[in-house]
Amino acid sequence: MRPFDVRNAHFDRLCNTPGLMWLGQNTNHFPTHPAVVRAMTECIASEEFHAYAPPMGFEALRRGIVADLGLADASALVTDGAVEALYLACHAFSAPGSTFVTTDPGWKWPMHFAQAAGAAIVEIPIYGREYDFRLSPARLEAAVDERTRIIYLVDPNNPLGICYTEAEIRAFTDIARRAGAYFIHDCTYRHFADSHTLAASFYPERTITIYSFSKWLGLAGLRVGALVAAEEIIERLAAAPPNNLGSNVLSQRAAMAGLAVKDEWMPEINRRQRRNQAAIHAAVAAVPGFAIPVYPSQANFLVIECIGAGIAPEALCEAYREEGIMIRQGTYHTPAFGQRFVKVSTTVPESWADAFCAKLPQMVERARGIEAPGPLF
Ligand SMILES: Cc1ncc(COP(=O)(O)O)c(C=O)c1O
Repeated sequence: MRPFDVRNAHFDRLCNTPGLMWLGQNTNHFPTHPAVVRAMTECIASEEFHAYAPPMGFEALRRGIVADLGLADASALVTDGAVEALYLACHAFSAPGSTFVTTDPGWKWPMHFAQAAGAAIVEIPIYGREYDFRLSPARLEAAVDERTRIIYLVDPNNPLGICYTEAEIRAFTDIARRAGAYFIHDCTYRHFADSHTLAASFYPERTITIYSFSKWLGLAGLRVGALVAAEEIIERLAAAPPNNLGSNVLSQRAAMAGLAVKDEWMPEINRRQRRNQAAIHAAVAAVPGFAIPVYPSQANFLVIECIGAGIAPEALCEAYREEGIMIRQGTYHTPAFGQRFVKVSTTVPESWADAFCAKLPQMVERARGIEAPGPLF
């Protein structure tokens, strides 16, 4: 089997595991809001999906996304998930001889996209108490020069769950402006933060805000997201996007219905996922050598350090997998720091989080006996 087949078979196995508890991909597994279900049911019943959607997304959805961000002067391009928005922006603005600056850890796929388009990747380590698990303006400044075309910031950070302050965002965008770089602000987890500042408020001309419906609304498998930017940028990106025939009609209907109920939906989602964070925090505190470096997380997941207990993250993932629980090994995010931690998602039914907690002591012991866990992705 080729590596791509092995990787795909891995995820196929997960998707076809009945009752799997998905605590590994920051997806949202709370039951869907009835209004969102209704919108999808109506879409299917009317069979409107025989037609292509507008190339940049339904106008109402584009307006809804811009309104949700509060970026009145910006324009939205609806994509098949945030990842496609990132693909598009990274390919458009990377070139041989340019640099793409980001943090380690962060989200790896945009690095691959930029690299494929010829950019050199500059990763700034932020994992560790010495960095306070966050990027500082001084360290960004040191990494940026006239070659820098893209600064990519995941905020709240995946996997760490830190969120940047207004002063930090202002300083980052000042650096981007001086370098003439595009600032890709990946706000996929924004809706879980206590407060969040959009880089586009300070640097509207070259900030690309990345938006997802996968996490806050729970539409990961439906693939719908967006990028939001100044009209000149959208004009350029809309010239040849991969989804030029429009995004999924059903997904867009679900997304619009979700935006309409967001004010009612999100407080409860956040109450429940913070409750899960607290339960996991308490369970982890009882295991010698385990620690949660960032708490509470400003996103819907927690990093759990297991290195202090001499446990390999992959072994712990394998132990949980045998129990029908998926959690994520740190190396998915970062080869440099990944051997220190696993990541556990919190937008899941309380019973899943509690199952994770109840099994933790036993899984730690089991992991000690797992020498060579199978490949994980
Ligand atoms: C930082 C970040 N950006 C983007 C995505 C992809 O989001 P979407 O499902 O909307 O493509 C993820 C998914 O995990 C992510 O962690």
